[in-house]
Amino acid sequence: MAGVPLRTRLCEILGIEHPVIAFTHCREVAVAAIRAGGFAVLGEAMKTADEIQENVRWLRSQVGDKPFGIDLVLPSNAPQQGTPEELIAQIPEPHVRYKERIHAAYDVPLPHNPVALRQWGGLNKRLALAQIDCVLDERVPAIATGLGSPEFLFEAAHERGIQMIGLIGATRQARRVLEMGADMVVAQGYDAAGHTGAMGTFSIVPEVVDIAGDKPVIAAGGVTTGSHLAAALCLGASGVWTGTVWLAAEESDVDPLVKQRILQATGDDTTRTACISGKTMRVLKCPWTEEWGKEEAPAALASPFQMLLSSDYLQAANDSRRADLMTEAVGQGVAFVDGPKPVGEILHGMVDEAGAILGRFG
Ligand SMILES: Cc1cc2nc3c(=O)[nH]c(=O)nc-3n(C[C@H](O)[C@H](O)[C@H](O)COP(=O)(O)O)c2cc1C
Repeated sequence: MAGVPLRTRLCEILGIEHPVIAFTHCREVAVAAIRAGGFAVLGEAMKTADEIQENVRWLRSQVGDKPFGIDLVLPSNAPQQGTPEELIAQIPEPHVRYKERIHAAYDVPLPHNPVALRQWGGLNKRLALAQIDCVLDERVPAIATGLGSPEFLFEAAHERGIQMIGLIGATRQARRVLEMGADMVVAQGYDAAGHTGAMGTFSIVPEVVDIAGDKPVIAAGGVTTGSHLAAALCLGASGVWTGTVWLAAEESDVDPLVKQRILQATGDDTTRTACISGKTMRVLKCPWTEEWGKEEAPAALASPFQMLLSSDYLQAANDSRRADLMTEAVGQGVAFVDGPKPVGEILHGMVDEAGAILGRFG
């Protein structure tokens, strides 16, 4: 039986051909996903307002009128202000000593480049507000918020005709973003790369569908193949939000050493840990995650202190290109990532496979 076309309400609302949203930190991946008929959301949490403005203008120069989103991370417990150095000075001594022990045990070099995580929007509210002002001023088509969704942002975005995408990992958070007026909700399950809650994708998606009324629900967490896309639509989702599947794509700027690890990894090679940012996050296992998982390790600090504590290790691993130290946010669906392939081929493969599966059921 022929495959069925996958036109959903999400396609109408976002003006896209296929109900697939690519989350990525790489602007070339975003452009390729948009050109292939999907939607792309560029993760800009670690960028300054000036860098975000430049990326938004560059994206527009590449895709014209086609819509896209910008994702920011805005934790509600971020300090009001404080330079990274001032915040680092507040890190307790046992944590500093444990970090130094790991650095010595694995011969972790010093970072050569500025530490990217020290401009993370979650570090303090001043940085986050500068990022927010930029996306509002640029009137980006859509804003996605993970890890905290300030109410004023929903209002300010809607006044400017910007769509708000709420990214949530628990049903109570879905209720909150819906009350604030989210135009759509990404229900992200435990399988996902990056910050993730404790509910599995198969459970959280239908729970959120039940409370979302006419707002589209987008399934995230482990979606890497057409069978996952078909399953997400069967659960009542209007589309999928995907991260891991793009990491090893041809256009992706992920370090080739990490791409190689991703292509060889299975779900068992990932771990969900608070030791990177202070909030539970799924990443590829590495010495930093293994050492913080030991019984003698101190409990992870709250965000943003744990993020600052891990930031030297993460930057040094990347700068020195030590594959044994490197990690990346990677989801449990990583076993299905193959390639390297162009983004368009991955996206169309997923859509064609889902259409064929759903076609078999008439
Ligand atoms: C490398 C990487 C970095 C991520 N960083 C963020 C981020 O900054 N903000 C965010 O909202 N989500 C982030 N995520 C999570 C994605 O938005 C998405 O929810 C997740 O990748 C979906 O699960 P999947 O990876 O199994 O497809 C990241 C994901 C990856 C793969």
